[in-house]
Amino acid sequence: MSPEDVIVVSDLNHTYDGKRYVLSGVSFRVKRGEVFGLLGRNGAGKTTLIKILTTLIRPTAGRISILGLDPYTHGAEVRRRIGVVQQDDSYDYTSVEGNLDIYGMLWGVPKSERLKRIEELLELFSLSDVRKKSVFDLSGGQRRRLQVAREFMHNMDILFLDEPTVGLDVIMRRTLLDRIKELARSGLTVIFTTHNLEEADYLCDRIAVIDSGRILAMDSVDNLKRIYGKKTVELVLGRGSRDLFLREVRSRIPNVDLKESDSTIKIVNTDPSFVLGVITEASRVSGVEIEWLNVRGSTLEDVFLATIGGGAVVES
Ligand SMILES: Nc1ncnc2c1ncn2[C@@H]1O[C@H](COP(=O)(O)OP(=O)(O)O)[C@@H](O)[C@H]1O
Ligand SMILES: [Mg+2]
Repeated sequence: MSPEDVIVVSDLNHTYDGKRYVLSGVSFRVKRGEVFGLLGRNGAGKTTLIKILTTLIRPTAGRISILGLDPYTHGAEVRRRIGVVQQDDSYDYTSVEGNLDIYGMLWGVPKSERLKRIEELLELFSLSDVRKKSVFDLSGGQRRRLQVAREFMHNMDILFLDEPTVGLDVIMRRTLLDRIKELARSGLTVIFTTHNLEEADYLCDRIAVIDSGRILAMDSVDNLKRIYGKKTVELVLGRGSRDLFLREVRSRIPNVDLKESDSTIKIVNTDPSFVLGVITEASRVSGVEIEWLNVRGSTLEDVFLATIGGGAVVES
């Protein structure tokens, strides 16, 4: 294990009923300071994996090291050094500041330190205005922010967040993600699950795409996009014979992935500069002008669909 690895998971398998495996052969490492995303559809196995990593479930088989410790023999120590925001978290009573204080007490943080932290966290998570409010009267976004904030009542090495943005509107989502980003920048390691591709793209340094309990792809966001993502070259033709132009393109790119919708022609390919060369040549030979041209980059959606086999390209 490299001293930088704060999480090492090797060949993890889990079954709840002894028949169906909901995690199979899962292996990965996370380095200190990384924001690592687990991206997958509902039922992919994300929550099970988070529960195993945070000592709540013992896996059927496999080896795990959290901060160099075995979470089963050293559960209490691991729990002391991590923060967890569960998918269906609730611990909802008293006021916002009272809730933070209780968490501080649970972690054994001294009173003077608690008071200081409460002020910092209310500010950082934009909860100052509602500090006296009962937790029951908060909006979904405020409650979720509180659930994340209270983890910071104690110092931690790793923060686990299981779908923290579910049920939040776009603005609250962004506020929460930005807070997490700020904290990650200061060196915190974050494990974040989501089924939302944009979120994973926005927040994560590295992503594991998980489906049916298996990791299908794992890399930096940019590498995933480069490897799996294709580019779409879009063009609109001017005067001249469209058929002649298309025939030239088809003769130069065997089995070209080409779609026509209204006046726009879309060509999907991993090598857009090759496609642009072909288009230029086809235009010259056919005498058809190109009126408008655009190259659209790949999105994580492309990666996701390519890896889970749901289709090659998504129309936006
Ligand atoms: N306590 C449980 N008992 C039996 N099966 C479960 C339990 N929790 C989850 N599962 C099953 O395990 C699979 C993975 O679920 P989960 O880890 O919650 O996925 P995700 O968080 O990605 O939606 C699903 O098929 C789910 O039905
Ligand atoms: Mg889940």
